[in-house]
Amino acid sequence: MEKKILFPQVGGFLHGGDYNPEQWLDRRDVLEEDVRLMKLAGVNCATLGVFSWASYEPSEGEFRFGWLEEVMDRLYAEGIYTILATPSAAKPAWLDRAWPEVMVTGADGTRRRHGERGNFCFSSPKYREKVQSVDRKLAERFGSHPGLLLWHVSNEVGGECFCPLCAERFRGHLRRRFDNDIEKLNRAWWTPFWGHCYNDFSQVDPPYSNGENSIPGLVVEWKRFSTWNLTDFLKTEIRALREAAPQIPVTTNFMAFSQKLDYREVARELSLVSWDSYPSFHNDREALYDTMAGTAFHHGLIRSLKPGIPYLLMECTPSVVHGMDYNKQKRPGIHQLASLQAIACGSDSVMYFQWRKNRGGCEQHHGAVVDHLGTGDTRVFREVSGVGEMLGRIREAAGTVPEAKAALLVDWDNRWSLQTGQLGSRHTKNYVETCMALWKEFFRRGVEMDIVSSEASLSGYRVAVAPMMYMLRPGTAANLKRFVEEGGLLLATYMTGYVDQNQLCYMGGFPGDGLSELFGVVSEELDTLYPSDRNRIRFSDGEEWEVYDYAEILRVGDAQALGVYAEDYYQGGAAVTCRASGKGKAYYVAARTSPEQMGTLFERMLGEAGVPVKRLPEGVEYHRRRGEEGIYDFYLNWTAQAQTVPCAEGTDLFTGLHTEGGALKLEPLGAAVILADAQGNV
Ligand code: GLA
Ligand code: ZN
Repeated sequence: MEKKILFPQVGGFLHGGDYNPEQWLDRRDVLEEDVRLMKLAGVNCATLGVFSWASYEPSEGEFRFGWLEEVMDRLYAEGIYTILATPSAAKPAWLDRAWPEVMVTGADGTRRRHGERGNFCFSSPKYREKVQSVDRKLAERFGSHPGLLLWHVSNEVGGECFCPLCAERFRGHLRRRFDNDIEKLNRAWWTPFWGHCYNDFSQVDPPYSNGENSIPGLVVEWKRFSTWNLTDFLKTEIRALREAAPQIPVTTNFMAFSQKLDYREVARELSLVSWDSYPSFHNDREALYDTMAGTAFHHGLIRSLKPGIPYLLMECTPSVVHGMDYNKQKRPGIHQLASLQAIACGSDSVMYFQWRKNRGGCEQHHGAVVDHLGTGDTRVFREVSGVGEMLGRIREAAGTVPEAKAALLVDWDNRWSLQTGQLGSRHTKNYVETCMALWKEFFRRGVEMDIVSSEASLSGYRVAVAPMMYMLRPGTAANLKRFVEEGGLLLATYMTGYVDQNQLCYMGGFPGDGLSELFGVVSEELDTLYPSDRNRIRFSDGEEWEVYDYAEILRVGDAQALGVYAEDYYQGGAAVTCRASGKGKAYYVAARTSPEQMGTLFERMLGEAGVPVKRLPEGVEYHRRRGEEGIYDFYLNWTAQAQTVPCAEGTDLFTGLHTEGGALKLEPLGAAVILADAQGNV
């Protein structure tokens, strides 16, 4: 696999972050000190202009880019590159005053007032025009600046707008989707029930909070529309940038597993993906390892949006966040370990929000590399410098990517669909938590797992897990069948294949769309348990799993029952089944059970698939990045004790020493990166 170096001019990993110098234009000393400190911290790039519209265009049509040019030039002279944002996330007051339509409208139909950020309508022609105008100016002026690496479009986009313009575009979207035939929509949304039939597309409204929320097909379609509309908005920005600077790649910064929009749709329009990571470090609910397993899941989700190339960690805090319930400090050493985790998962950067703390305004207490003390002589600054140094030591790994043989199938519209569905319990659906918990069982075994759509090509994977795939996308069933036929091992769970894209239930047995043949089972009933209810699944070898929340009662066709229910009126009924098909196998787990207990089945599947499992001590994380020139093994110890892990023979990039392979000792909260000799066999 050839390396995919994102930025040859930089060579290694990016290290830097959001920099908002427009606050300090009257303080040359501060700006000069920033450059000195950036050098000291091993920073090689800065993200400029995320919220700079009011500085660029203080009044309509009057542009001032001089300050930006000075800063970019100054940074570039010191070897610090620029990621330049478009300023659409926060707009100047004059714009809102002149054209109120540019402000976002909430679900109750009330337009927001000027202020905050992200407060814009994705449809407003005026807003699109104004954004394009400032973007074009930026691209014309800075598109060929030698320091410019990347466009950063807008900021943490997502959400919905319920204004009349958006409602009208929603109707246009429906007309396209249903071939301008209102009867098609009526059938797809089953509107005769409760007498919800429409005579014309003009009668369809968005799901206002005081309006129509009782048609599940409409509610999900609105989510799809919002993704489409926001993506369309971003495309207008991207077009303006590409016209003037086609050679500069484009990204936008995502937020973990946001339910606001389907990131896969947006990612198609981007050159590379990036995200902002803000885990609640050291919380009192879970061990640090568990928090970081969640973060690794999100890294995996983002990485999988653009397979085969590195992504960027666009923001993290070097110390504290602001605005969460408890803004706790990252403990000494943790920033370095969390940074290495991002790299291990496939990021080619560690970047901060933000470089220097603002003196006033929102987020004035959010952690920054340089805080109000104003010096490089702080614990946080030293830790950031340590990360700069660490990234230098492992720079040869930049451009390589993790390689996954297992996939978790996750769809955004399935998530929305489960939210609207009146099935089961409104308290225990926990789709995202379930996905994360199952993924974690692979993570704990050192098995890299991509997180992909149920329609994505699965040809590179050996094992696939599809939790609660309640809504099937049009190509899902065929895709899963092909995967199994060709030798894949697939596992699906309760609540699979109940509805189609329009939220219409499949007739003739769940899982629908032919999947009941693939699994050899039909789910006849779904039982929803109260929180304290329990059942058990018993296997022939005496193994038992605990059942909670959901249990399906199966009719078994030509599948083999591996485990049966131990209690209740479905005692003795099949709960875990397997059916061979083509060269592969399809497993069905009909009840929610503890993910840890399912681990034995996962190991069996991985064993059958020939995917190696690593025996890691509890609390140790492992990833492998691979490129033509080398195999890089990352070991991270999230515990306060020393740990010993099995490792391949190779070179320890932190110490430069050769290791024989076998047992590798990790210090408490320590880590190692091993450049493996040969094939990296352990
Ligand atoms: C997000 C935003 C940043 C900043 C940080 C810290 O990631 O993108 O602008 O607000 O959060 O709160
Ligand atoms: Zn709108």
